[in-house]
Amino acid sequence: MTIKVAPSILAADYLNLERDVHTVEEAGAELLHIDVMDGLFVPSIAYGPNWVKALRPKTNLVLDVHLMAVDPERYIDEFAEAGADIIGVHYEATNHIHRALQQIKGHGVKAEVVINPGTSVALIEPVLHMVDQVLVMTVNPGFGGQKFLPETVAKIAELAKIKAEKGYDFDIEIDGGANDETTKLAYDAGATVAVAGSYVYDKVDPAAKIARLKEVTTD
Ligand code: DX5
Ligand code: ZN
Repeated sequence: MTIKVAPSILAADYLNLERDVHTVEEAGAELLHIDVMDGLFVPSIAYGPNWVKALRPKTNLVLDVHLMAVDPERYIDEFAEAGADIIGVHYEATNHIHRALQQIKGHGVKAEVVINPGTSVALIEPVLHMVDQVLVMTVNPGFGGQKFLPETVAKIAELAKIKAEKGYDFDIEIDGGANDETTKLAYDAGATVAVAGSYVYDKVDPAAKIARLKEVTTD
């Protein structure tokens, strides 16, 4: 088993996006991570549903949409219709996390709950039975290129324990500061998917970086 790799297009070349997507697809990535930022939940602004719609016919990668938006319910329908395979909503961004996850599943799209570094696993326990993926933010969201926060590893292990005890089969994804060392740490704690932005799209050799992430997580 190796970790699944989800390159983040936040770090790709926007004017050569199709090329950069094909590069990682050919290199063995399984997902494509698309960061949606509303300028409120996080300071930055990025990627609307039209990007997903444009990417959909160009790739077979699983389109993994990370909604960093206040009241994400406002955007779920549009991203689902645009062709997202997975939609993630932050626990911190809505008063109604359960309903937001139901809304995603109502479209036949995989539902993901996301927690910031300052949010504990206990708070999402009531919705773990209904999710396909849990995203543990390993940096504070909003920007690529930040340093992995090692204290998040304990939360990955805690989730993996609950998953085993309850017989759940959700994926555990990490996002932020992933490189070969931090991905190995997360994988050993139970992570099954690694988002990687700057590490993969360093403009030197994305394929080698993906191969390296696979290599360090080969059991
Ligand atoms: C951060 C985003 C990440 C970002 C990761 O808010 O959610 O997906 O692209 O970038 P790196 O891998 O460079 O930390
Ligand atoms: Zn992200």
